[in-house]
Amino acid sequence: MCGIVGYFGPQDPKEIIVSGLKRLEYRGYDSAGVAILHDDKFKLVRASGKLGELQKKLATESFNGRLGIGHTRWATHGVPSERNAHPHKVEGISLVHNGIIENYQQIKSQLVADGVQPSSDTDSELVAHLIARKVKVTGDLFKAVQQVLPELVGAYSILVVWEKQPDTMVAFKNGPPLIIGVGEKETVVASDVQAIISCTNRVIYLEDLEIARIRGTKVELFTAGGEPIHREIKVINWNPEQIEKAGFKHFMLKEIHEQPRAVANALAPHINVDSQRTQLTGVGFGCASFEELERLDSAKDALLTAEKLSAIERIFIVACGTSFYAGMVGKYLLEKIAKIPVECDIASEFRYREPVIPPRSLVLVVSQSGETADTLAALRLAKSAGALTMSICNVRRSTIDREAHGHLYMNSGPEIGVASTKAFVSTLAMFDVLAVYLGRLRKAIGEIEERQYVEAFLEVPSQMEAVLAYDKFFAEAADRLKAFKGLLYMGRGVSYPLALEGALKLKELAYMHAEGYAAGEMKHGPLALIDERMLIVMVAPKDQHYEKTVSNLEEARARGGKIISIGTGNDANLKSISDYYLSLPMADWTVNPLLEAIPLQLLAYHVAEALGYDVDQPRNLAKSVTVE
Ligand code: AGP
Repeated sequence: MCGIVGYFGPQDPKEIIVSGLKRLEYRGYDSAGVAILHDDKFKLVRASGKLGELQKKLATESFNGRLGIGHTRWATHGVPSERNAHPHKVEGISLVHNGIIENYQQIKSQLVADGVQPSSDTDSELVAHLIARKVKVTGDLFKAVQQVLPELVGAYSILVVWEKQPDTMVAFKNGPPLIIGVGEKETVVASDVQAIISCTNRVIYLEDLEIARIRGTKVELFTAGGEPIHREIKVINWNPEQIEKAGFKHFMLKEIHEQPRAVANALAPHINVDSQRTQLTGVGFGCASFEELERLDSAKDALLTAEKLSAIERIFIVACGTSFYAGMVGKYLLEKIAKIPVECDIASEFRYREPVIPPRSLVLVVSQSGETADTLAALRLAKSAGALTMSICNVRRSTIDREAHGHLYMNSGPEIGVASTKAFVSTLAMFDVLAVYLGRLRKAIGEIEERQYVEAFLEVPSQMEAVLAYDKFFAEAADRLKAFKGLLYMGRGVSYPLALEGALKLKELAYMHAEGYAAGEMKHGPLALIDERMLIVMVAPKDQHYEKTVSNLEEARARGGKIISIGTGNDANLKSISDYYLSLPMADWTVNPLLEAIPLQLLAYHVAEALGYDVDQPRNLAKSVTVE
């Protein structure tokens, strides 16, 4: 998953493009480059490695043109290297690309047979060759791109410029996001709002199979077939400082500390503070989805009305990675509170296992980025099966957000760190609300019980603030914790998915071996792993599983395991059998996961930091996996 930025305007394209790429660096970072007009030709500067390597090269470069494009790459075709970095320049054409051209081998054979000698191993360069050939015939960049598109198969987005039209950019989207920022005197095209917002907060979202012709500040949208499209300009309410690190060393640490506010923002639209009851508001519930908003009459059947939701007889929760673990917590909440059967699937399995989706099913997809390929495919499969669908996303108007019938939002603001934190806990909050809302609709809970749950939810942000104090503990303990050969995370009930999430955080940040297990499974194998070199992280809040979890812990202790336990209040029992004991505030079982997440995140963050790894951009990973 790569980052694309294009700029036309009076400012220095180098400054705008590089600062935009910096804000997209989390999307992929094994090489980067720019192509900017200088003396009416595109000057290409590219570098392997992180964006900093490109910045070093650009320090001595200046450009007198007003048009340029840039790219940070997460390699799919061709190893990370300067020659495979984007932009790709062929004659007067320069191009950047995100996604995959599936028929690139066939295109390459044809080009080579015609005498072309590609200079890279990428599928992207081949597209530049096709457009460079076509523009000689059309004499116009937009027409050339339009005529090349039918030759390409795959999920990809491209941004193309041509020396002979120095005020024009042509953008095409089919899969990975592309957004156009329309300023007073300038236009910015980028993969994400964060790269645009310092120039303008007025944006146009490209939809799949749409092509944009940008001439100066004139933006025209067409279907791939050439039909004009009218799309209104949206105004984004983010401000640039939201995106900066606010004084923290890493975006991830900032985002861990933002969690109380993120959860409050997630809950706010769905808690009626006066009545102390839950509500589902917003796009797809009280009104239609974005596009249908303009055509309300034809959207009635798409609305997830209370009446429709009351008739739901089964829920499928589908997601990847951390979002999947949040979905597992959602399963426990929905089944225990709303008494509705729930299946929880990893998206890459769901999309191929030919799931049986009975009538009156709701398929709920969870995705922070709203662009994860497997999750998007699962959503589309569900819709083709006639199911009602709902999304929980963090990025508004992302592809998954736009395509679901009903839309809930994590509302946690931009999450830059590749390792998901605040989006995870905000998703947990959304599942709390959804479980109680459906519980009321289905008459599985009464008004008093609902009010009690709502009260517990409203306390969570301040309880989370208290737990964040463990930041200092893990900063000091990290040097000891990093020495273990591996970590075994365990929990029961809603704490079991938290054990899985805690293990994932350590794997993706500290590159250490870690496993998450249901504590009840210990005797079925993991007990053999335990010795003094194995650190056990036991999530053991005072809930209905507490006694059994403590006995699991005593078994582990008896075999010499070192133990960190995370419990409720001043638990002398847990303290007596643990090497480290972390105390969480007394809370309802439905919100314990939001509190448990924080020490698990801080443990992984500080161990990775102690090992000297790049916490915000862990090796081999990308923030959103927009390819299979
Ligand atoms: C979590 O820390 C990872 N970055 C990864 O597992 C992530 O949760 C997964 O790729 C799903 O991403 P999404 O929520 O944007 O769909």
